[in-house]
Amino acid sequence: MTSITAITEAPPPPKGGNPLIVYRGVKKAFGKNVVYDGLDLEVQRGETLCIIGPSGVGKSVMLKLLTGLLDVDEGEVWFDGDKVSDFTSDAEYLPVRRRIAMVFQGAALFDSLTVFENVAYPLREQFNYSEEEIATKVAEKLEWVGLPGVEQKKPSELSGGMRKRVGLARSIATDPEVILYDEPTTGLDPVNIQRINQLILSLSERLRCTSLIVTHEMATVFACAQRIAFVYDKKIAAVGLPDAMKNSSNPLVRGFISGDPAPFAD
Ligand SMILES: Nc1ncnc2c1ncn2[C@@H]1O[C@H](COP(=O)(O)OP(=O)(O)OP(=O)(O)O)[C@@H](O)[C@H]1O
Ligand SMILES: [Mg+2]
Repeated sequence: MTSITAITEAPPPPKGGNPLIVYRGVKKAFGKNVVYDGLDLEVQRGETLCIIGPSGVGKSVMLKLLTGLLDVDEGEVWFDGDKVSDFTSDAEYLPVRRRIAMVFQGAALFDSLTVFENVAYPLREQFNYSEEEIATKVAEKLEWVGLPGVEQKKPSELSGGMRKRVGLARSIATDPEVILYDEPTTGLDPVNIQRINQLILSLSERLRCTSLIVTHEMATVFACAQRIAFVYDKKIAAVGLPDAMKNSSNPLVRGFISGDPAPFAD
């Protein structure tokens, strides 16, 4: 006799196919603070998905659950056919982390190192490239972020916006298949916000990568997102195309996107 669990269990996502990333029934709490009580989301290979929602709802946690910086309490997280939520050691996560770049909130450069050494860092740490290959990759990435030739400068000689772009060059030095952005434009002026938006778009084209962008910046959302996921009430409360989300029948989604506080409790 087939058991009920066998009937309701979803099949594993395929290796090499779609969806690339799956969160299935994920629960996560820190003590009494329940962050997720059933997070479900599928991300397709090559898509750019923006994750929005009020401060503290768990957007950064969602990214960390994918790379094993945090563990789920219950449920499953899959990456390219592997159930990463079953991994128990850094050694198991390593091959996955090599394929995923993280552009994190306030990620700092190493002040004592040159820009070159900053960008080369993940190449040296995770791979066995020759010095020549490293120099080529560093120069390429600095060019991609619009900062060719700054290799020998120290981070302290650069503006905040330039440092952000060097940080981005460092994150993508390894030609990742997935880029996780956590508030990539926070604290930047409108021109630099647009610059980063354009960079995100050009990187997803150049690398043909999958991008997850956590942001409060609607200019970034509407410049970059192919789909938008709205996190609220311990789950993905809504997900859809940008136009559909903007005109959503859900007042919370509409209110959040337009900056109307009325639907939200204090
Ligand atoms: N390592 C941790 N230990 C304990 N609590 C944590 C930890 N990481 C996150 N939290 C809590 O989990 C909740 C979600 O945090 P998270 O950082 O994901 O929010 P967020 O949606 O990214 O917010 P913001 O938009 O302000 O960045 C918060 O209540 C936070 O305090
Ligand atoms: Mg966050």
